[in-house]
Amino acid sequence: MKNIVLIGPSGIGKTTIGKYISKKLNIVQIDTDDLIEEKTNMSIKDTFDIYGEDFFRTIEVQVVKEIADNKNVLISTGGGIVLREENIHALRSNGIIFFLNGKIETIVRNLNSSDVDRPLLMNEEDMYEKIKKLFLERKKLYYSSCDYLIDVDDKSVESIGDEIIFYY
Ligand code: S3P
Repeated sequence: MKNIVLIGPSGIGKTTIGKYISKKLNIVQIDTDDLIEEKTNMSIKDTFDIYGEDFFRTIEVQVVKEIADNKNVLISTGGGIVLREENIHALRSNGIIFFLNGKIETIVRNLNSSDVDRPLLMNEEDMYEKIKKLFLERKKLYYSSCDYLIDVDDKSVESIGDEIIFYY
C-alpha cells in the first residue's frame, strides 16, 4: 500500500487527523516536525530562533528524503513542506497526497486551542492576517502538490479521517 501524506497550513489538523487515521488503519504515523526535533535535538522554535528558517528547511528536506522510501505509513508534514519541490517529488513517489483545506477561521480556532509553538505565527498581533497571508502565498502550491483536496470546515476529526480513508 502507498503512504497517506497530509499537507496543508499550520493548524488545519494534519497531526490530529493523522493520529486518527493511523490508529484506525493500524499503520505507523510519521510526523516530519517530530523527526526534525529529534535530528536537531531541540524544539522547532529554537531551531528557527538560533539557526533560522533556511536551516530548518534544509533539515526538513533531509528528513523527507529519509522517510519517503517507507510504505504503508501515514506521514503528517509541516505547513511549509510544499516550499521545496523536491519534498513533494519524494513524498509522491510512494504516497497519495491529501491537502487539508479550510477557512482561516477554522485555522485560527484550532491554533487557539493548540499548545504547539509555531515560530512563523508567534508574537503576531494580528494572527488572522498573518495566517491569511501565509496561506494565500502557499495555496497554489498546496493545490498543485496534492492528489486529493479535503475540506475540513465544520467536520469532525473522525469524518475527515474517514473521508481520507475512503479515497485511499
Ligand atoms: C511551519 C509549520 C510548522 C513547522 C514549522 C514551520 C510552516 O508545522 O513545520 O513551524 O512553515 O508553516 P505545522 O504545520 O504542523 O504547524
